[in-house]
Amino acid sequence: MKGIILAGGTGSRLFPVTISVSKQLLPVYNKPMIFYPLSTLMSAGIQEILVITSPWDQALFQKLLGDGSDFGVQLSYQVQEKASGIAEALIIGEDFLEGNSCGLILGDNLFFGAQLSLQLKAASQLQSGAVVFVHEVANPSQYGVAEFDQSGNVTNLCEKPSEPKSNFAVTGLYFYDGLASQMAKDLIPSTRGELEITDLNNAYLKRQMLKVEVLGRGTAWLDTGNPADMLEAGSFVRAIESRQGIMVGCPEEVGYIEGWITEEQLKNRASKLGSTQYGKYLNRLASK
Ligand code: G1P
Repeated sequence: MKGIILAGGTGSRLFPVTISVSKQLLPVYNKPMIFYPLSTLMSAGIQEILVITSPWDQALFQKLLGDGSDFGVQLSYQVQEKASGIAEALIIGEDFLEGNSCGLILGDNLFFGAQLSLQLKAASQLQSGAVVFVHEVANPSQYGVAEFDQSGNVTNLCEKPSEPKSNFAVTGLYFYDGLASQMAKDLIPSTRGELEITDLNNAYLKRQMLKVEVLGRGTAWLDTGNPADMLEAGSFVRAIESRQGIMVGCPEEVGYIEGWITEEQLKNRASKLGSTQYGKYLNRLASK
């Protein structure tokens, strides 16, 4: 399975293009936002990853993440010219995917949980159809929302409903079979002019090929869509890290645990990062 991180579009900015960079390059607490979704895809066992960015910031993302060898993965890059929708990522990534199944994650989504890696690894085994994850939230109107029948089966997904039929929001992490790029091409842009990921997921649902998995209470999902969310996510990461002494969203650590980089590579990376808190953490990991 291959992976795609979508960190593009004008929607990824807190300020206008001329004066700012994509928010996915900005830190959430002590590391760039994109480290979190990168770590999540990696913990699903995915090593070949396409990073889709805005044209203006591609060089910065490349400088930050390189070819992925620091993390034990292979990264490639493509651009999304405009905010034309999440589903467009699957069209942009069509050549990269070569008909393979894929995990798609939004560059501003942060996941954390004990059983998460196991759940994602299971989902990444998918042969046909699609898997999405829902999580209970207090403010479902801001998201894609799952609607259930009386037996608990999902009947529909609704994008940002004003009167949501449940509190279960669809998170920004999706697994698709090899048909996804073709199906994305068949979508009609929504009234906001975007190829909606919710429309793609509903197309899978209509074919009875959509599996909706609940991320339970033990899993945290944060969407760092705006400055307040970013601050909240930063506080969350800080609380976990300072209490437990572990890092959240550290791709070098995931690569090391997965056996994709050696102890020596980890040490080299740590020394490149110097005496930063992050560098010291990698050094501690390597000498454990
Ligand atoms: C997007 C999706 C939405 C999903 C959300 C998760 O929303 O359209 O269905 O629930 O990501 O972060 P947007 O980023 O467009 O607000």
